[in-house]
Amino acid sequence: MNIVLIGFMGVGKSAVGHLLASELKLNFLDTDELIEKTEGRSLSEIFKASGEAYFRQVETETLRTLQDYDNFVLSTGGGMALKEENVSLLKSLGPVILLKAEPDVVFERVKNEKHRPLLEVADPKAEIVKILEFREPFYDKAADHVVDTSKMSPEETAKEIIQWLRSKSS
Ligand code: S3P
Repeated sequence: MNIVLIGFMGVGKSAVGHLLASELKLNFLDTDELIEKTEGRSLSEIFKASGEAYFRQVETETLRTLQDYDNFVLSTGGGMALKEENVSLLKSLGPVILLKAEPDVVFERVKNEKHRPLLEVADPKAEIVKILEFREPFYDKAADHVVDTSKMSPEETAKEIIQWLRSKSS
């Protein structure tokens, strides 16, 4: 069994993914980490030297590679669910769970972090609102289940997801 987490930066995909993996005895995988490992450079370096379009191509290739594996929770980069091909690949892995959060909450969670190239702009808060608005329909369309994490801890979110998985299989 696999579980796929999608959603914007700062919604808790990594934290929740780690908790789910340990609770359900699955491996934890993160597409950003896999990409950094295969590319041998950081996301910031990839964006700067090769551009976003190249990064998006590598994201799709990474999803293709994962089709041969099983028993993992996959945390995906915030732009993953925008491409139709990616959504098909994600869905063939397992249930796709969308984590959401209010823009203000996202901003608070990411403001001191330095590894998010898309938010390295003069007004990151306005950027979050703008990107989220554009992406919302793509995220919703790809999701089998949605959890708003704005007022929830990663532990509470993981618990909610486990309940949902159990209700689905019973
Ligand atoms: C991106 C989100 C990042 C990373 C890249 C692009 C996006 O992942 O993939 O910087 O387009 O939203 P996180 O959502 O894990 O921060």
